[in-house]
Amino acid sequence: MVAPTPLCRAGFACVRWVHISDLQFGMSDVDWDARVTYATELVARVRDMAPDLVIDTGDCVEGGTLDRNPRDVAQWWQTYREVMEPLRAQCEVLAVPGNHDQDAADRSYASFAAATGMSVDSIHQRRQIGRLDLYLLDLNMRVGDYDPVTGAGMSHHGAFAPRSEVHRWMSAAGKSPRPGAAMVVAVHHPMFRSRGELCAVDSSLLYNPTSGNPGELFPMLDALGTDLYLCGHTHSYERASCGQIAHVTTGAKTGRLRGATDFAVARDRDACITVCELGDDSSELVGRALRVTGEVADEWAQPLRSSAA
Ligand SMILES: [Fe+2]
Repeated sequence: MVAPTPLCRAGFACVRWVHISDLQFGMSDVDWDARVTYATELVARVRDMAPDLVIDTGDCVEGGTLDRNPRDVAQWWQTYREVMEPLRAQCEVLAVPGNHDQDAADRSYASFAAATGMSVDSIHQRRQIGRLDLYLLDLNMRVGDYDPVTGAGMSHHGAFAPRSEVHRWMSAAGKSPRPGAAMVVAVHHPMFRSRGELCAVDSSLLYNPTSGNPGELFPMLDALGTDLYLCGHTHSYERASCGQIAHVTTGAKTGRLRGATDFAVARDRDACITVCELGDDSSELVGRALRVTGEVADEWAQPLRSSAA
């Protein structure tokens, strides 16, 4: 293992947050023991970094109540909690639900929080830690939600439909930017997808490079001054860039590389941990992607938008 080195300048205070996603314990784990061992090592690498905060962008398990046997799902959640316990004992862990975590029409954030072992009380949240200004959003469509593209109800898709509850929440919450802070948005679903997957994403969420339609979410986040968008869902690492927003997809089910998006600037088959830091005196945010072995797969720095204002 390669020992993680600090990203911020030595001797200067910073806030450090780690992003993981898609641990997704479940029925596709042909070798269950290997899966648990891998996830346990991933958690150990995250602990080595001594983060102030861990953000899990969902798909913790592989089954909503509609898809799977409830007893199996309960077992997968128990394993997730056991694997994550050393991390929760060390720092705060926040999670947003993925499409595989809950898909029942009556699902709630309270039940998701209980399943993950977190103590949270609202479906969307804004957290401010040091210079990190973090927004956590649940964009999962519920069973029976209307999809404006197909007209169908959907259970495994994300959306950011105009006049939806999450659209109103983000519009209101983002209108009080914090000077000098990094605005980071954590969501399960990506805004950017490969060309082969464009038809599987609701147009309100997708930034479509073929039509030029940016959807609803990207223009709002850009106008609010977002620096970094953290997401999962695709199970492989990609860092993309569009305008002044960095879009980082992280996933723990590695070993395969999905098709690149039009905005990709870095990709890796095995990166499963993204760590970011913002120094107290810094005008830029720095990030690094790691494999479970601790090897560095990607590294970047970006100027902070609020510092340039
Ligand atoms: Fe997903």
